[in-house]
Amino acid sequence: MGRLDGKIAAVTGAASGIGLEISRRFLSEGASVLLADINEANLEKAFQESSQQYAGRVHKIKADVTKSKEVDNFVQETVNHFGRIDIIVNCAGILKQCLLQDLDDATWDESIKIMLYGVFYGVRAGARQMIAQGKGGCIINISSVGGIVPLSDSPHYCVAKSGVNMLTKVAAVTLGKHKIRVNAIAPGETWTPMTEAFLSIPGVEDLFIKETPLERLGKPSDVASVALFLASDESDWITGHVLCVDGGQGLRGVDAEKIFQ
Ligand SMILES: NC(=O)c1ccc[n+]([C@@H]2O[C@H](COP(=O)([O-])OP(=O)(O)OC[C@H]3O[C@@H](n4cnc5c(N)ncnc54)[C@H](O)[C@@H]3O)[C@@H](O)[C@H]2O)c1
Repeated sequence: MGRLDGKIAAVTGAASGIGLEISRRFLSEGASVLLADINEANLEKAFQESSQQYAGRVHKIKADVTKSKEVDNFVQETVNHFGRIDIIVNCAGILKQCLLQDLDDATWDESIKIMLYGVFYGVRAGARQMIAQGKGGCIINISSVGGIVPLSDSPHYCVAKSGVNMLTKVAAVTLGKHKIRVNAIAPGETWTPMTEAFLSIPGVEDLFIKETPLERLGKPSDVASVALFLASDESDWITGHVLCVDGGQGLRGVDAEKIFQ
């Protein structure tokens, strides 16, 4: 018996890294999952891989989370295909590191659009559908340790993620009466395609290992385990939480500013 047997989930950023691992974990625990991502090639790859093992329980749609209509549309597509939606994971993101004084308007706008507007559109669309269904639901937003401690290599990223943390709490307060739980996960530095180039700069991986209390970097599976807990009935009385999955990095932060000077 799986911990998500019979549940219907939609995951954004599902074609890579953390979103891909969360989708795999949800499928392996019995959920049906709609994979949503802007990267069509990777999305197709993820879909083919999952379909081999979980045929009939996986579906995909290309969606750009910066466009509210496309977000509304993938929630609707989940309902059309699987009959309803119980869980939405807002995971899509980008990382373009840059010190504040060097940051241009386009990079600021793009980061805020994907990681704050995109999460808002997902929370709103998921909430509207779950309220209409009348059976509660679960919303999980992927934030970051950067939304809690200021990291000088990514002001735009930190601001977007801290917005996600407050959005999570406001949504939890507002949606509780509908039995919709809203939580965020704040991962620390995790090996994924997003961080690969940065972590491969000589000295960076060692810096993070040295400065992380649990002395290692994260793996997508670390985040997927917590997403599974938050999506399952085991966390039935948990809402409005921002849960760090970071080996303790968020306790004091790891500042890589020197790498960018
Ligand atoms: N990897 C880390 O160290 C780390 C740490 C903290 C938080 N996070 C967060 O975890 C999430 C996933 O990151 P990851 O490391 O797995 O990165 P990743 O690059 O492996 O995956 C991100 C996915 O988001 C998709 N995406 C980007 N823009 C999109 C858009 N406009 N619409 C739809 N999809 C879009 C990409 O195509 C990609 O498939 C992000 O929100 C990221 O900020 C990652």
